[in-house]
Amino acid sequence: MQKFVITGGHPLSGEVRIAGAKNAVLKMMAAAVLTDDRCTLRNVPKISDVAIMREVMTDIGFDVRRVNGDALELQAHDVAWPFVPLEAALKMRASFILLGPMLTRFGRVILPNPGGDRIGRRPVNFHVAAMEAMGATIVYRNGYYFASAPTRGLRGAHIEFPIVTVMGTENAMLAATLAQGTTVIDNAAREPEVDDLIAMLDAMGARIERTAERRIEVEGVASLRGADHRVLGDRLEAETFAIAAAITRGEVTLTGIKPQHLASFLEVCDRMGVAHEADAAASTLRILPSHGALRAVDVQTDPYPGFATDFQAPLSVLLTQATGVSTVHETIFEDRMDHARELVKMGASIELVDERRARITGPTPLHGAEVGIADLRAGATLILAALAATGTSVISGIEHVDRGYEQIEAKLVALGAQINRIEA
Ligand code: EPU
Repeated sequence: MQKFVITGGHPLSGEVRIAGAKNAVLKMMAAAVLTDDRCTLRNVPKISDVAIMREVMTDIGFDVRRVNGDALELQAHDVAWPFVPLEAALKMRASFILLGPMLTRFGRVILPNPGGDRIGRRPVNFHVAAMEAMGATIVYRNGYYFASAPTRGLRGAHIEFPIVTVMGTENAMLAATLAQGTTVIDNAAREPEVDDLIAMLDAMGARIERTAERRIEVEGVASLRGADHRVLGDRLEAETFAIAAAITRGEVTLTGIKPQHLASFLEVCDRMGVAHEADAAASTLRILPSHGALRAVDVQTDPYPGFATDFQAPLSVLLTQATGVSTVHETIFEDRMDHARELVKMGASIELVDERRARITGPTPLHGAEVGIADLRAGATLILAALAATGTSVISGIEHVDRGYEQIEAKLVALGAQINRIEA
């Protein structure tokens, strides 16, 4: 098991290149299943979730290989057994995104129930209902979903999600590309990663368009071709480095992201008094040392373009340094406040009003501690707290951070942080 040892109190400065977005690339890898041709993805982050997805797809019988560092080549020839192994689903919930592409391409697929994880129950009923609306028969038995399409393939349908679901929208879109007729998806997710997936599908020859803010229309085609697509920058990694700069009162320029994708976060920065300069044309964002005290704010998570659920835990660290009482209301997941307990060990004053609401009183100086957590974004949260704390912190559970952050310690060290990965 590995741990991070971090000695805080060093203002970060310099430039950091943001990697490709985890929550886009995993779905794009699945999109490559829609064609027999080769697809190339560029700006692919070196994170363990990509490695797991690659392993899953290779196990199924697809060809996935890294070329030239940040590119991935994928080719999905016919497979005898459209089957996703249980081990894969246990490691990564996102493997469920293979449902739509495999069902529409091969007419059948067997996938394990991905179950929940550390942030709540996370059911897949909306994914299943969307496939059923397109004519699929799905039987759940012994922990597996056995899905089959009618003999002539899936057919277009009107799907309206009861609440916004990112991966549900993506699964429905992917399935609809090769279905017969038109699919209309209402109450669709608007995350930039969804639109980047639409751009890739468009390049593959799909007839797909966002016709209203929350409506996507797909006209099925007989076949798709290969595409060469560059993955957009990871807005969640960008926000993590922006907080790292702000919390250490440093000055850091982030490159490789579109600042407009961070609008709701930057609006919170404005309310708190975190100085920043965005350059949309250059795809950069600069965080500047703030003069004066940070202000407390109330935030509520919402689907994009609202404030991202993935970001409430990291923001909480900054709120411990703001003057006054801040509140954080998590509306998307039911169990995403685990970081509070660990931050309290480091000196934060956080009261959990209920399982979705935290009240944070600041400013409170943070100090080093031994902490750990089993979730990606909560792991990043502890790193941020340790960067701001006096003294040394030891953070366990960092394999969860490696799932979604490319070489986080190397990037932080280059900005002047004192962080080491140790074998424990
Ligand atoms: N939901 C259902 N039934 C479903 C699907 C979703 O009830 O069939 C509920 C969920 O339980 C949740 C809400 O709908 O309450 C929204 O969940 P959503 O489906 O949007 O989440 P997701 O697609 O599974 C993605 C990201 C998450 C991110 C959420 C919300 C990927 C691989 N994951 O999950 O990212 O938090 O959208 O934006 O894209 C992360 O990167 O750390 C992460 C957890």
